[in-house]
Amino acid sequence: MADPLPYSEKVMDHFTNPRNVGEIIDASGVGKVGNPVCGDVMKMYLKIEDDRIIDVKFKTFGCGAAVATSSMVTEMVKGKTIQEALTITNRAVAEALGGLPPKKMHCSVLAEEALRSALKDYYQKQGKEPPFKDKEHPHEHEGETCL
Ligand code: FES
Repeated sequence: MADPLPYSEKVMDHFTNPRNVGEIIDASGVGKVGNPVCGDVMKMYLKIEDDRIIDVKFKTFGCGAAVATSSMVTEMVKGKTIQEALTITNRAVAEALGGLPPKKMHCSVLAEEALRSALKDYYQKQGKEPPFKDKEHPHEHEGETCL
């Protein structure tokens, strides 16, 4: 059997005790993304008032790193303005967790994409064009497997 991956204490903490799990019924924006390689799925709900994220919840069907990065990104965006939230990258989320094993970096992409997808939905619900483009993470999806 393979050795367990070297996860940081923070990753283990957010995996075993994830923050902000659940859904927001009257969410301002909902994002759902999936990783086509491993099949993991993440859903994020945002409550936005005056351009500020006042509440955020998530549901993730996925690996430990996906759960931990979802949990961390919700902590990072709560209380932030939309513009501030858009500056959060998957790498910043991974760093805030004390790092991820290289083969699990692609899981953090899901967290960033779920956030951007929920923000996109927020703008679209108001009939507005999102003021940002979809981001490409070309190398972090390729050749990864669900471990
Ligand atoms: S998100 Fe699928 S293996 Fe982590």
